[in-house]
Amino acid sequence: MKTRSTTIRRLGILSVVSVILAILIVTGVINSENNRLKTARANQAEDANSPVTFDDGGRLIRPTGYRKWNYVGTPVTPNDMNGGSAPFPEFHTVYMNPEAFDHYEKTGEFLDGTVLVKELISVGTKEASSGAGYFMGEFIGLEVSMKSKARFENEPGNWAYFSFGHKYPLRESANAQPTVSCNECHDGSADDDFVFTQYYPVLRAFKKEAE
Ligand code: HEC
Repeated sequence: MKTRSTTIRRLGILSVVSVILAILIVTGVINSENNRLKTARANQAEDANSPVTFDDGGRLIRPTGYRKWNYVGTPVTPNDMNGGSAPFPEFHTVYMNPEAFDHYEKTGEFLDGTVLVKELISVGTKEASSGAGYFMGEFIGLEVSMKSKARFENEPGNWAYFSFGHKYPLRESANAQPTVSCNECHDGSADDDFVFTQYYPVLRAFKKEAE
């Protein structure tokens, strides 16, 4: 008799514990689902205004429409002036998303959400009917920088840097590079908020007007 009632009591305790456990698990699942939805919605809200998108793992999806953005400048580091292989070969055509471009024109400052794309293009021929020089060949690579306080809170200046490769086919998505790989050199040598405006007369002219 005694053992039977102990067993019943034990069973009772067990079922109470299982119910509590079940409730905890269900609330946990609901909470994490809610959090996932919240993050997804926040990403969507950001993406609606952003010229670029990120995947769920925070990787930047390779932007596509940038050749229709605003043109900023074209530094050129030909391989033959850099021991046969420049770190960023060769023409660097730089584009800026139009909203940030307009903002820079008005204020002389980089908008939160600015995206700069540097498209690498090989030197094709060195002779044209206009004379000897460096003339653009083929698209070869893509680098991107983005300023975002929400996404890159811990990066100096809130700038993050992405590389999609220096050879086609390019990567479909890219993680932000470690700060030492890109940000530090920009921080140390660029004229205006991590951007090399000293090589972009278009932006320098805007800056002068905005002052
Ligand atoms: C040793 C210095 C140095 C390092 C390291 C460096 N950059 Fe730059 N970057 C420059 C210079 C100088 C320019 C402008 C002139 C040019 O393009 O050659 C530039 C320009 C850019 C631009 C165009 C917008 C701007 O800020 O002027 C992008 C985008 C960019 N770099 C991406 C990257 C990425 C991605 C990395 C890391 C993989 C990187 N950079 C590493 C020196 C550096």
